Amino acid sequence: MSRVGTEPLNVDEIKSNLKTKIIGRNVLVFNRTSSTNDIARRYIEDKSNDGLAIFTEEQTAGRGRGVNKWYSSRSDSLICSILLIDNRLNIELLSLTTAVAVADAIGKPAKIKWPNDIILNNRKVGGILLETVPDKKSSSCIIGIGINCRQKTDDFPIEIQSAATSLDIESHSITDRNLFAKRLLSSVDHWLEIAKSSSRKIVEQWHLLSILSGHRVILLFNGKKFSGNCIGIDPEKGLILQLDSGGVRMFDAAHTTIIK
Ligand code: BTN
Repeated sequence: MSRVGTEPLNVDEIKSNLKTKIIGRNVLVFNRTSSTNDIARRYIEDKSNDGLAIFTEEQTAGRGRGVNKWYSSRSDSLICSILLIDNRLNIELLSLTTAVAVADAIGKPAKIKWPNDIILNNRKVGGILLETVPDKKSSSCIIGIGINCRQKTDDFPIEIQSAATSLDIESHSITDRNLFAKRLLSSVDHWLEIAKSSSRKIVEQWHLLSILSGHRVILLFNGKKFSGNCIGIDPEKGLILQLDSGGVRMFDAAHTTIIK
């Protein structure tokens, strides 16, 4: 049973007045799936599925980055995967662009903790999982996005209660997930169009939203620990640190985990 005030996700509501170029041209809503990223992969052969957005009320095998699982109680989150067929953007730039787009869809107080965490009030409200599907000729990509919407603090597992939040908790109101889904698709579409012509604009926006810029960072790169000051982001090579040990080094998102 859904929480009071939770409307089911609905294709027509998400698509009504959705004015996007590519993202959300096709929208599917499932009642229950394994990982939506896996479902999206099934649609990759048909190029007309470029921009397909898949939503589900419940995910039974949600994945986070690395070995992490992504758990969300039924109908409480916005669980979405967007399929990009023949993606031409570099994966680092795509990762920055998606984070900027998700933060923008949430609105002003939302911040980005590189590479994939979306932060509200110092707590994680959502995450992004980018998966590439290269074949011989092209590289397609699946953007998995999970945003906590209707949860109360007690709904999160005890071990993450102090680190997690939801749109409802922060806004003191009831999130309309259909409306938020529409905003999310519009925002991803908008920022992807910008990224295609100007990586500089994405980097500028990322800097405005990033909680790591200008701060001390400790990270693991391929399992090895590094620390330093975050002095920027490179749209092709990743996070730039002025290392405590001397020198400047870049860290790509796929091999990096932020410790602090
Ligand atoms: C993270 O914070 O580590 C990333 C979480 C990404 C979760 C989303 S929910 C939709 C898509 N399907 C998945 O299995 N994972 C992503």
